[in-house]
Amino acid sequence: CEHQEYRRTLLIWYGRNGRTLPWRQTQDPYAIWISEIMLQQTQVKTVLPYYQTWIRRFPTVQSLAQANLQTVLKAWEGLGYYARARHLHRAAQVICDRFQGQVPLTTSDLESLPGIGRTTAGGIASAAYNQPAAILDGNVKRVLARVVGLKVPPSRALKDLWSLSEDLLDPEHPRDFNQALMDLGATVCTPRRPDCHRCPWVELCFASMHQQQADLPMTEER
Ligand code: ADE
Repeated sequence: CEHQEYRRTLLIWYGRNGRTLPWRQTQDPYAIWISEIMLQQTQVKTVLPYYQTWIRRFPTVQSLAQANLQTVLKAWEGLGYYARARHLHRAAQVICDRFQGQVPLTTSDLESLPGIGRTTAGGIASAAYNQPAAILDGNVKRVLARVVGLKVPPSRALKDLWSLSEDLLDPEHPRDFNQALMDLGATVCTPRRPDCHRCPWVELCFASMHQQQADLPMTEER
């Protein structure tokens, strides 16, 4: 596959169709970290008001680190998966103690923090620092499985999917490329009835070329 063509078409599509989201209007690594944690298990629509309130309530890493845990959990109320809030609070303290109050830039430092796995680390490093760090969340797995016609369920091919996400990533525009890939999965390459007519990759995609959108990705067998 020709990676340049994937990059070029996706970035043009993103310029015209990308969503305007508040964590894309900021360069503040702290705010971007908060958004990525909130978005881990929660939809954009639900996250939006919580994100705005949170940033006003705890505007800096220091303010979060110094807040009392009950206050933090209270601000999280309604978002669910409360371990995320506990991890945020602990990670803020680690960032103050070990990283001079700066959200780290490398994926390995990011992954050393509570609540940050590989895809969240890539999301933060690329969005906050424009680092060439790949992502592989549920939406991206589905998009890539369709593009290449993955013959096994995504959970059986994580190594290949990560390599593919890394290879496709535009080294000159990692921030926009990753945000675009997430938007493509969320708004066009949806689980059911993907809107292939609006997809920048329609001519580059195995599933669309072979009418297999409904059959890909393969379902997880058990
Ligand atoms: N899901 C995870 N990270 C996201 C982001 N930055 N924008 C939209 N959806 C996301």
